[in-house]
Amino acid sequence: MTKQMKLGGAFTLPGTSMTLNRMGYGAMQLAGPGVWGPPRDVDAAIAVLREAVAAGVNHVDTSDFYGPHVTNQIIKQALHPYPDGLVIVTKVGARRGADKSWLHALSRQELIDAIHDNLRNLGLDRLDVVNLRVGAVMGPSQGSIEEPLTVLAELKRQGVIQHLGLSNVTPEQLAEAQKITEIVCVQNFYNVTHREDDSFIDGLAGQGIAYVPFFPLGGFTPLQSSALDAAAASVQATPMQVAVAWLLQRSPNILLIPGTSSVAHLRENLKAATLQIPSEIVTKLDSIGSGRSGDGEKTSSVAIAT
Ligand SMILES: NC(=O)c1ccc[n+]([C@@H]2O[C@H](COP(=O)([O-])OP(=O)(O)OC[C@H]3O[C@@H](n4cnc5c(N)ncnc54)[C@H](OP(=O)(O)O)[C@@H]3O)[C@@H](O)[C@H]2O)c1
Repeated sequence: MTKQMKLGGAFTLPGTSMTLNRMGYGAMQLAGPGVWGPPRDVDAAIAVLREAVAAGVNHVDTSDFYGPHVTNQIIKQALHPYPDGLVIVTKVGARRGADKSWLHALSRQELIDAIHDNLRNLGLDRLDVVNLRVGAVMGPSQGSIEEPLTVLAELKRQGVIQHLGLSNVTPEQLAEAQKITEIVCVQNFYNVTHREDDSFIDGLAGQGIAYVPFFPLGGFTPLQSSALDAAAASVQATPMQVAVAWLLQRSPNILLIPGTSSVAHLRENLKAATLQIPSEIVTKLDSIGSGRSGDGEKTSSVAIAT
């Protein structure tokens, strides 16, 4: 098989003709430090995107609040006119404060404005998939999402959005959403050390809905774990490759969007699509997230969430 074993296999978003290779790319790291302003090296950012797509990645995750606007503008500069089959998934529901903070933006007008910002900055007439992002800084919060989702469902009916997903949500919020419109993917915080969504993932797999973990490598402070290091040494890979391969093996509905601003890291991450982790090592890795590995205190978390 070619191109890194077809980049980890493929998954078709439910009710769509969009078949995504399971190894995608998350574009948030392409903006400047703190996901604010332009990157230090725009050409390097463009090179990462072009190399990802040339390697077979056909799923790019973004938002117009990265930068803000900057990440989408770089995607357009690097990849427009977009190749057939490339699916750009964006998200709305947040905005950046002048102090670089991450704020909710869930009113009707804010959502409509965000959709039009995405269309303009990506150079599209219609968005492939839009995730409604709700919740608190570090994870979902309870409460109805009917009001903002109804706005997006209306835009979908008008043809400005093709498909809808959710981000930072609970299973109850997914169930509420499914009474309003079809949901093709859920994007929540999950990785080998952060396993709160284990049963949610299994439930989504049963429904054929994609689960797209954000911070798959730990986010702004990449994962650190002695169990991960030991697993990496035993399969002759890097800890980040093991973190990627563990996710690919975790469930067939998991689609990956690891973020990087570096072509070298991109290549390293994409190579993990061919890495098979033996079951005894998977069992050891499973114990990191359950706190049984004894090195839970060494697993890193994130400084901010988006
Ligand atoms: N829905 C949401 O609320 C939400 C929240 C956060 C993120 N996201 C999405 O999820 C995507 C992924 O999240 P993320 O980028 O924040 O976190 P991530 O993929 O978990 O990790 C990115 C970090 O890991 C580093 N890294 C990447 N590959 C590496 C490698 N091979 N070796 C060492 N370090 C490596 C990157 O640094 P370098 O740049 O130096 O490689 C960066 O610091 C984002 O791009 C965004 O699209 C969504």
